[in-house]
Amino acid sequence: EQIPVICLDGPTASGKGTVAARVAQQLGYHLLDSGALYRIVALAARRAGLPLDASAEAAIADLAQQLAIRFEGDRVLLASEDVTEAIRTEQAGMDASSVSVLPAVRTALVALQHSFRRLPGLVADGRDMGTVIFPDAPLKVFLTASAAQRAHRRHAQLLSKGISANIADLLADLEARDARDMSRSTAPLQAAQDALALDSTQLTADQTVGQVFEWWQQQQ
Ligand code: C5P
Repeated sequence: EQIPVICLDGPTASGKGTVAARVAQQLGYHLLDSGALYRIVALAARRAGLPLDASAEAAIADLAQQLAIRFEGDRVLLASEDVTEAIRTEQAGMDASSVSVLPAVRTALVALQHSFRRLPGLVADGRDMGTVIFPDAPLKVFLTASAAQRAHRRHAQLLSKGISANIADLLADLEARDARDMSRSTAPLQAAQDALALDSTQLTADQTVGQVFEWWQQQQ
């Protein structure tokens, strides 16, 4: 009997993180925020003074393999340092997108991602959860929203943390990141063939979570 996994893939700021956390909490499942792994690898690579491109692919992959990453509640720890805030900046997102293009880095993170699949189940959010990491998952959701709506949500999220930002800049950033994530040759952002598409542009977080639950119940 396979341990159940719900995959939530989609572009930047589509609401995957919020929805995944709530679904996991309600089901009592484990949570894998795979984007955080790429963000941590990028942070570690920057600190090591490595260029975030193919010229340092082997070195960054080595780093990725050795990282002592831990999730404790909603905190993210690198060795024993709390990097929760450091990995959430726009720059950290762009850096994560840069290192995530490198195939050796992606490979280095596969076993770690699989290790999150524990009883009673897992909710995994990212770009390639349904296509590459958990292709046998019984429920795969591809979550989207218009770029304008995503920029708007990111803006509100930053404001709530007391960070001011310009919507036009946020929109440009997320479109650049989506373009890179969709066009890379290894594990590009795309819906799995058996994924259910969910456009949350007009939905509240509650409604989006509700739809995922409805699908999950139908599939039981
Ligand atoms: O989801 P989040 O914005 O935290 O992800 C940061 C970046 O990490 C993404 O833009 C993407 O380039 C990369 N990523 C990935 N595969 C995943 C999750 C994230 O390539 N499964």
